[in-house]
Amino acid sequence: MAAHILNGTEIGQQIRDELRQQIQELKQAGVTPGLAAVLVGDNPASQIYVRNKIRACEDLGLYSERLTPPATITTDDLLAVVGELNRRPQIDAILVQLPLPRQVDTRRVLLAVDPAKDVDGFHPMNVGALVANRPGLRPCTPAGVMELLARSGIEIKGRRAVVIGRSDIVGKPLALLLLHQHATVTICHSRTQDLPAVARTADLLLAAMGRAAFVTPDFVQPGATVIDVGINRINDPATAEQLFAGYPQRLEEFRRKGSALVGDVHPDVAEVAGALTPVPGGVGPLTIAMLMVNTVQATRQRRGQPAPAHPSKLAAVR
Ligand code: GUN
Repeated sequence: MAAHILNGTEIGQQIRDELRQQIQELKQAGVTPGLAAVLVGDNPASQIYVRNKIRACEDLGLYSERLTPPATITTDDLLAVVGELNRRPQIDAILVQLPLPRQVDTRRVLLAVDPAKDVDGFHPMNVGALVANRPGLRPCTPAGVMELLARSGIEIKGRRAVVIGRSDIVGKPLALLLLHQHATVTICHSRTQDLPAVARTADLLLAAMGRAAFVTPDFVQPGATVIDVGINRINDPATAEQLFAGYPQRLEEFRRKGSALVGDVHPDVAEVAGALTPVPGGVGPLTIAMLMVNTVQATRQRRGQPAPAHPSKLAAVR
């Protein structure tokens, strides 16, 4: 039986609609949330991500700025850019798009962002708040996964969750959020022995290691919920033919465009899983939705604005 498909586009839209109402209320109180995105250099993927983030702000009526220092910038000059944004009262939210060029000390830059404006949740202060399960800004992609699970009615408490991938941006924070919701959590990574056997113990399997179609049906307990956080572009026709063998529409699309996006989960997992997020249209749309949620949260907290008149459902992760 084919897995139930968890529609991230729809849930992302729902979240944005709830935010629209909250933003209107803030504006009526004379407050317009402001986000600054720092895009260093000309990494094409980063350019697309930042463009989509700015568009999301515009769509919701938030103030936004895109700063584009050159790829040759020094750590000190980038620290000065961040310092200036920290000081500007109309900027509530700062994100420094990663990766940064090699000569820049990424840790020093992330440490320089005011934790109250750190809408990526990358500052050690917010990381500590997450570990201790105290209020703070949570990384957007893991927060989006939690929101997707909550709104899809998927039980977390007491269930076995296996997270594949241990990045600071996704794997680690996601494991902590699941733990705080009382899952029994295992983190797997490149050195894990017999990874498929560990993965098969999962009621909830979350793939976030950035390897195209790595999770094959033999990793999945029949009926498990599988969350695919990966976004990988494939350009090789032979790979596409193999992956999309049973999916003529996807193969056709690959041939038309010359490339395709695939997750960390193999398409055939849909035959085994109970529920599955697609790529594209699964976790991806939630990342930006949660960036908007974090921007509104940061604004409210910085400017002493009360909680919304109509409490939203955005309660899964805070
Ligand atoms: N690069 C890849 N993912 C992210 C993210 O969530 N935030 C930022 N700032 N950069 C990224």
